[in-house]
Amino acid sequence: MNEQSPILELRGVTRNFRVSRGLMRGTATLKAVDDVSLSLRRGEALGLVGESGCGKTTLSRILLGLLAPSSGEVLIDGQTLAAADPKARARRIQPVFQDPYSSLNPRKTVSQIVAAPLDVHAIGTSAERERTVVRTLDLVGLPRRVADSYPGQMSGGQRQRVAIARALVMQPEVIICDEPTSALDVSVQSQILNLLLDLQKELGLTYLLISHNLAVVEHIANRVAVMYLGRIVEVSSTTRLFAEARHPYTTALLQSVLTPEPGLGIPDTHLGISYPNPMDPPSGCAFHPRCPAMMDVCRHQRPEPLRDDHGRVECHLRPRHKQDQEGNP
Ligand SMILES: Nc1ncnc2c1ncn2[C@@H]1O[C@H](COP(=O)(O)OP(=O)(O)O)[C@@H](O)[C@H]1O
Ligand code: SF4
Ligand SMILES: [Mg+2]
Repeated sequence: MNEQSPILELRGVTRNFRVSRGLMRGTATLKAVDDVSLSLRRGEALGLVGESGCGKTTLSRILLGLLAPSSGEVLIDGQTLAAADPKARARRIQPVFQDPYSSLNPRKTVSQIVAAPLDVHAIGTSAERERTVVRTLDLVGLPRRVADSYPGQMSGGQRQRVAIARALVMQPEVIICDEPTSALDVSVQSQILNLLLDLQKELGLTYLLISHNLAVVEHIANRVAVMYLGRIVEVSSTTRLFAEARHPYTTALLQSVLTPEPGLGIPDTHLGISYPNPMDPPSGCAFHPRCPAMMDVCRHQRPEPLRDDHGRVECHLRPRHKQDQEGNP
């Protein structure tokens, strides 16, 4: 299997939820993920960014096999995810969630928490599990004495190290980090991001790093996928994305990270109009009510994705741009 071959792949994945419209108003369908095709290449760190509510967590839960797509396919090494058994999947893909306060059981000690995936899948003898836990705590920079502590006795950063240790204990190939630093103080965020970088170098991990903040993924990701209202609107290498964003929404996100304190809360995209209601998405290009470059066509026609050497972009501006460069009318 070469380095470029996708380890995880989404093909045309859509996920709908039935949601209540309110008292006596029945239900509606909310498309949280809308026809997403995306691959995670072996050894890369792929960033997934977009404002809160755009579908990042839903997409990660689908990749983890915790949620089934309404349509489309999820492949691991070219095989459908549904066919992989839970133990095989857990050995390959592990999550680190946003909030180390709620994702760790407060009644278990650190060593019990970190050993839990080994217990669940009955891996190794208890002595072997203990050794693996000690080794993993070392790996994430936690002193061995914390093994008998409870999450409530630790700082936010230490707890997120425990969550990372729990993900690593199965020696997975892929780690899906969903907003891994959003609940942490700014001063601690970069320590956790640096730890993720070091672990990737040391263990050859593949990451999907999810954040509402481009500044967070810039630190780690080689490639970035930008999500808006359930769709991936741009994919590009990180360097190129920061040098020349092609989708107006990416440009707005980039401007938002140039604020004095990036990393705090939801980025202010300076787009004026607020994020649309996903139960009632705008017609045509879903970004059109907020887009500074909106044209007439954007209101009624969804742009076709343009794929080229730089990645993928969904915007009416791009094909035109390309035609102009080629001298076509
Ligand atoms: N279990 C669910 N039932 C109904 N709606 C949901 C559910 N999970 C997520 N959603 C909706 O799907 C959209 C995407 O949510 P989510 O994937 O959590 O976005 P993000 O992680 O980018 O903030 C939101 O509008 C959210 O309210
Ligand atoms: S398709 Fe139109 S509205 Fe959508 S991002 Fe491009 S220019 Fe803006
Ligand atoms: Mg989320």
